[in-house]
Amino acid sequence: MAMLKPISFTISSKRTGRRNPDDPSQGGLFKLVCNSYSCNKSNLPSSEASVGALRLVHEFNPKIPLEEAVTPPSSWYTDPSFLELELDRVFYRGWQAVGVTEQIKNPHDFFTGRLGSIEFVICRDGNGKLHAFHNVCRHHASLLVSGSGQRSCFVCPYHGWTYALNGVLLKATRISGLKNFAINEFGLIPLKVTTWGPFVLINLDKEIQPQQEADSKMVENEWLGSCSDILSTNGVDSSLSYVCRREYIIECNWKVFCDNYLDGGYHVPYAHKDLASGLKLESYSTTILEKASIQQCESCVEGGDDFDRLGSKALYAFIYPNFMINRYGPWMDTNLVLPLGYRKCQVIFDYFLESSLKDDEAFIERSLEESERVQMEDIALCEGVQKGLESPAYYRGRYAPTVEKAMHHFHRLLYENLTK
Ligand code: FES
Ligand SMILES: [Fe+2]
Repeated sequence: MAMLKPISFTISSKRTGRRNPDDPSQGGLFKLVCNSYSCNKSNLPSSEASVGALRLVHEFNPKIPLEEAVTPPSSWYTDPSFLELELDRVFYRGWQAVGVTEQIKNPHDFFTGRLGSIEFVICRDGNGKLHAFHNVCRHHASLLVSGSGQRSCFVCPYHGWTYALNGVLLKATRISGLKNFAINEFGLIPLKVTTWGPFVLINLDKEIQPQQEADSKMVENEWLGSCSDILSTNGVDSSLSYVCRREYIIECNWKVFCDNYLDGGYHVPYAHKDLASGLKLESYSTTILEKASIQQCESCVEGGDDFDRLGSKALYAFIYPNFMINRYGPWMDTNLVLPLGYRKCQVIFDYFLESSLKDDEAFIERSLEESERVQMEDIALCEGVQKGLESPAYYRGRYAPTVEKAMHHFHRLLYENLTK
């Protein structure tokens, strides 16, 4: 049986984002000595590791049409150096969903998280302005804050250096006698942050100046492309009420979870028999967009009682590389898939509901129970697939053309991203 447990971003990993250790005056500007967040962090020399990983990337040929295509080799899912390359080229570039606006609704709210080896904190200052920083103290690199909540400032738990919510270092303790130190040059290192609808996004691109205000149209275009209109017209917006979060640790490569999501309902009648009875699987359709794919399916209204979790139509949007938005009946849930290692990922589910039902506890509880059952079934599948991928018996497979085109699209986007 798959494990299900709540977690809080605890996986230890390698340090990153180094600044020049010889330059004590290097200040709040986000400068990196190496040109990669993950350089020199692998057990292998970085060039050797990335050459090896790049060779694996080319074992998939994205040009072969779906009907004749073969899937990426199992090494994409089992090789640690491949994950290093993915972090560097996929997750540390472009806009990445990291949370929901509910978490930073009010001034002084904050939440922390981890993306690859990037520890971040997102907060709203006393004036309501949104900020994101590396969650690393400028003194001796302690993580500054953990979890989420409210703060008027961040006090480092190690030696008490204190930062304002706008990142400014307010107090450096016991520094009498310290020379060549300018307190205004030791603020928290900022990251680019914005929101889209109910979602919070960060961008770790090193070319972007975090101080610049992100242009919302540009972000929408970069993150969603033409998918944004479809999401908006299907009720993916900020009008829904936030309900709760569920977090799962799954013993599989992050792409196994994505692949499972992207099989066009192929596995539903075999692996989710209860769910299948509520869906008109013959109505399943898949739309491929430039950075996203959308699966849609109609539901059957079941008799018996008034319980109708799925509504008449469901929309499942996959936003490359790791974010899923599911809108069905009065519900919306999102799935954020975060790699924690080459064979471990965390999936964060956030649930939203139409406001008229937000106080209907019985409906909410029953819906969440059903959703949880489906997740447990998926977790068991994903962990089984990971073990199969690690077996010498398996090298690569084929796509079922009528249903698995979104998966093929995902693999092609990955190939393109990893080879750029
Ligand atoms: S590491 Fe933060 S105050 Fe020393
Ligand atoms: Fe599933």
